[in-house]
Amino acid sequence: MASASNEWSNLRSVIVGRAKGSIFPYQSEKVTRSIMPEEFFHEFKPHNPFPEYILQAADRELDQLVSILEKEGVKVQRARDVDWNKVGGYTGCMARDGLMVVGNHVIEAPYSWSCRKQEIELAFGHILADLEKDPRVRVFRAEFPEGRDTIYDDDSEGSESPFSINNSRPAFDTADFIRVGNTIVGQLSHVTNPAGVNYLRERLPEGYNVQIIEPKDPAAMHIDATLLALRKGLLLYHPMKCTYESLSRLDVFKGWEILPFPIMPKHRTEPPFFMTTPWLVMNVLSLGNGKVIIEENDTEFGEWLKARGIEPVYCPFQHVHSIGGSFHCATVDLIRDSDDELVDS
Ligand code: ARG
Repeated sequence: MASASNEWSNLRSVIVGRAKGSIFPYQSEKVTRSIMPEEFFHEFKPHNPFPEYILQAADRELDQLVSILEKEGVKVQRARDVDWNKVGGYTGCMARDGLMVVGNHVIEAPYSWSCRKQEIELAFGHILADLEKDPRVRVFRAEFPEGRDTIYDDDSEGSESPFSINNSRPAFDTADFIRVGNTIVGQLSHVTNPAGVNYLRERLPEGYNVQIIEPKDPAAMHIDATLLALRKGLLLYHPMKCTYESLSRLDVFKGWEILPFPIMPKHRTEPPFFMTTPWLVMNVLSLGNGKVIIEENDTEFGEWLKARGIEPVYCPFQHVHSIGGSFHCATVDLIRDSDDELVDS
């Protein structure tokens, strides 16, 4: 079964990624330069594995996440073991980037990066095959136009897009969207284009719509370290990328408390943030029932949550960060209770 329409209500069933075998993704130097932290540009080249100690520690962290989830009564399914160096891919760790459940629709991302096109099939194809057998679920596998990929063709003449992809075919990463009930809130980015947003719209269940926000982020890729819908009625945002005014204007957040993220995350050098910023502190996984999984070092945020009546559940995850994301990125919720079963707080 698959059924989920928000980021916060009770979690019943989830997919968790796997780090083993992950390699630095490589699309082109131009793409690396527009998205990745400068000090690590040199790592982004074909067939370059992440350091083995990072992958091993990341897999231990992912296993720990799985035991926390299972102890909470959540059903967990895992990514398959894939040798990404052999297939020229990236990772099976960041499940959220390419899969999204909206209502009973399971939607696979038409990735813009060619190194990711096989990722969902190889790492999660077995889970999708099971879901396809369930008559209550509709699975939308990614569709790519035939022939040469034109998405990186230079169309700078007349194009006003600040991003590295053009609009010649639909492309998006599912992590550029969060689910806020019947409204999906998303952004255009270096991996998501307007044609991709339309493609997503066409695959949503009836009654759902997409609302695009425009965060200030020249390196935009994935919205889940920019917005955090902690529970119904409480939204946290990255204060350097969004403004209160821009978010409070949206119908979907009418009546919500909208707050800048309360803590300034600290940079660290070890294990390295090869691909992201320390704002991954916002990339949490909500268990529902007033509990949220956060990184074990983020105790200041934990205290803030407690003061708000939300229980932080700590899990080490810094080595997973090195591969490109945190708890939200490394999971896909398959089943969350519907909102009606939520006790409003
Ligand atoms: N772009 C975000 C940052 O640099 C990271 C988002 C990661 N999200 C993901 N789904 N992989 O802070």
